[in-house]
Amino acid sequence: MTTATPRPAFGSVLTRQMAVAAYRAGRWSDFEVKPVAPIELSPAAHVLHYASTCFEGFKAFRHADGSIRTFRMDRHIQRMRQSARHLVLPEPDAAQLADMVRTLIRACRDEVPEAPGALYLRPLLIGTTANIGAAATPSADAALFVLASPVWDYFAGGMKPLRIVIDDVNTRSAAHLGMVKTGGNYAAAMGPTLAARQKYRADQVLFCPGGEVQETGAANFVLLREGRLLTRSLDSSFLHGVTRDSLLTIARDSGIEVVERPFDVAEMLEWVRDGEAALSGTAAVLAGVGTLIHHGADVTVAGGDVGPITRDLRAKLVAIQRGEAPDRHGWLEPV
Ligand code: PLP
Ligand code: COI
Repeated sequence: MTTATPRPAFGSVLTRQMAVAAYRAGRWSDFEVKPVAPIELSPAAHVLHYASTCFEGFKAFRHADGSIRTFRMDRHIQRMRQSARHLVLPEPDAAQLADMVRTLIRACRDEVPEAPGALYLRPLLIGTTANIGAAATPSADAALFVLASPVWDYFAGGMKPLRIVIDDVNTRSAAHLGMVKTGGNYAAAMGPTLAARQKYRADQVLFCPGGEVQETGAANFVLLREGRLLTRSLDSSFLHGVTRDSLLTIARDSGIEVVERPFDVAEMLEWVRDGEAALSGTAAVLAGVGTLIHHGADVTVAGGDVGPITRDLRAKLVAIQRGEAPDRHGWLEPV
């Protein structure tokens, strides 16, 4: 794609092919790579009624030498298996799913963008058993897809500082499902996020039920200041981001003290008086917060700009992903 071509919105364009496998009679079928096309599904399919679905999102990068590498695919596959377990769906076989991803990437090699673009991989698992009575019975059958999409920035405007509404009432998931990447969590975030967009021109909502800071609708949340990083410690209330884990590792490697523990809105507001805040995720990468909106009032963060520590950590992560800095932790895997 030349620089003159407008970049499609994140995820709005798929590659020509997808990979598909089915789970029937207690086993996974061989997978197929075939053209992206509508799928056949019974209107009684479990997923359509009882939301038996989970997905993943990770990237592959085209390096300057033309090679293509996935970033921490093993962690995303592990998380997908964990999501499937929590939803009582058949677990994808890790080796087969990795093979589906690599085979799909090879089949659409010419559609993988050069930096600053990437190929976004979206494995999707759905319960397909046709039985509208199965509200309390898991789906015996399932379908597994891998979709791929050439992507650039998730937040339109690239490095534009974000406006984030603090929501200290709503939750984005059932308490035991926050760590599961399932569609229902995104459905729960949709209403509050649209309301925040309309009322405050906000980009995202930071969910802080009961005042406890958790995460936003589509990314984890970190606080930064000279030599320190604070983020919520892992529990079942939020998604255990692979980007979060990578950034924490890069921060430690850079001599930053990483603190993982619960914290509340009052402490966050205190922190941003002279600190930075950012969203981390595969799509968001590390996106700086310029404004927190608290009970209707704007609180300026980092002078309303993307802070220097945010920029530095983001640059270090992206350099590893693109093969411009050494991959010390073995996060990249050739396709
Ligand atoms: N939290 C939510 C709700 C997300 O949708 C995402 C994106 O995947 C993340 C956090 C970040 O996770 P990761 O860094 O693994 O992409
Ligand atoms: C991701 O970062 O992979 C996400 O899942 C965000 C989103 C597009 C839902």
